[in-house]
Amino acid sequence: MASLDSALIAIERACGTGSVIRDPSLLEGYAHDESEVEPCMPEAVVRASSTADVSAVMKAAYEHEIPVTPRGGGTGRVGGSVPVPGGIVLAFERMNAIEGIDKSELTTRVQPGVITGDLKRATEEEQLFYPPDPNSRDSCAIGGNLAANAGGPRAFKYGVTREYVMGMDVVMADGTILKLGRETKKGVTGYDLTSLMVGSEGTLGIVTEATLRLIPAPEATVTALACFSSLDEVAPVVSSLVAQGQLPSCIELLDQEAIRIVRPEAGLTIPNDTKAMLLIELDGEEASLEAELERTGNILFDLDALEVLVAQSSGERERLWASRRELSYSLKRHAKNKFSEDVVVPRTKMAELLGYCAQLAEQHELVVPTYGHAGDGNLHVNFLWNEPDEKRQVDAAIEALFQRVIELRGTLSGEHGIGVLKAPYLSMEQSPALIALQEKIKDVFDPKHILNPGKIFPADAKRFHGSC
Ligand code: LAC
Ligand code: ZN
Repeated sequence: MASLDSALIAIERACGTGSVIRDPSLLEGYAHDESEVEPCMPEAVVRASSTADVSAVMKAAYEHEIPVTPRGGGTGRVGGSVPVPGGIVLAFERMNAIEGIDKSELTTRVQPGVITGDLKRATEEEQLFYPPDPNSRDSCAIGGNLAANAGGPRAFKYGVTREYVMGMDVVMADGTILKLGRETKKGVTGYDLTSLMVGSEGTLGIVTEATLRLIPAPEATVTALACFSSLDEVAPVVSSLVAQGQLPSCIELLDQEAIRIVRPEAGLTIPNDTKAMLLIELDGEEASLEAELERTGNILFDLDALEVLVAQSSGERERLWASRRELSYSLKRHAKNKFSEDVVVPRTKMAELLGYCAQLAEQHELVVPTYGHAGDGNLHVNFLWNEPDEKRQVDAAIEALFQRVIELRGTLSGEHGIGVLKAPYLSMEQSPALIALQEKIKDVFDPKHILNPGKIFPADAKRFHGSC
């Protein structure tokens, strides 16, 4: 405790009065994210205002060996920003500036506390577009998006966060400030540490500024909903759209349970025997969109769509998306407990995966609503339960799901990360040699293991989060 106090005195001296919070009633809000990971109260929260502040925090934390958990919007799904006992949280709400949007370079420079939706709106005002759009975009922050390499619906056409990161300022475990990457479109000097940092879940360094790539905003967007009478029909539709050269900005799947939630919220009138839907959005030049929509519609009807509905106004479109974006929270309200998986399989294997989810639901007597980014083969498979003794069934079903995903040449997480929740399963996907190599990388970047401990690596997660 003495060393924690010494570290916090040094930090407050460097970062200014009011930068360190120790009031337990305020700390509570920083003890959890949006996952089921057991909350853990930090000893303190430090609100940094600059890269220099973050460097001062890390210098003190390094000297006194205090664990530091960086936190953006706190919207993570796997416990990535849940602190560990004896640790502090480094919060970025004060570092939320969009420092510039350059229309000639097609770049923006941002601090990590910028809310992703705010960046979207700011770039749109300049007729530019920052495509990564995690569904929590109005509450998640760019720093967290970088840590998790966030995706979202539009990743199908535009790719994930990593594809938009050009360079960054990073504070290392001992407080050293490094500039990674570049401001230029091209550049191959040295190892690509920028890419390594993106998706490293705050375990290798702390991003304090980033240069992000922008693209011209599409001229127009159309949103369509294709209704199907069976969940079995949708996976072949996705493969067929891709095989026929269609490139919608997103292809989202909603199963029956998801439809039941979205339908009243979005005010949808759909055929009664609808058992699955694809939410498809096309964007591009206004002049060509209509023909594109017609081509897509023809493919959908050829593949037995019951109905294809096109949003007639921006209000209709907004309402549909608002209910889709709420889905994860809406499902949570339907049961006392929810585990939401984030698995990915090659899209040609999606039919098998969906079939297997139905089998798991039956075999384990569980409710397993499934929805997600079908274009990417990235499905949110949700396990809902109410009674504590059902948890064992849920754990068995999740392990079986992961096993099947790996057999189908898939991966455990498409966009939420490993964090605490998925750490016990890491070795199902990665070999001991591969995990050992990553542990060595971690040692090089963070020799004292103070940067967001307890995440990704199974032994670490057990050691730090078993005890909260
Ligand atoms: C979604 C979040 C859970 O797609 O990733 O709704
Ligand atoms: Zn998602």
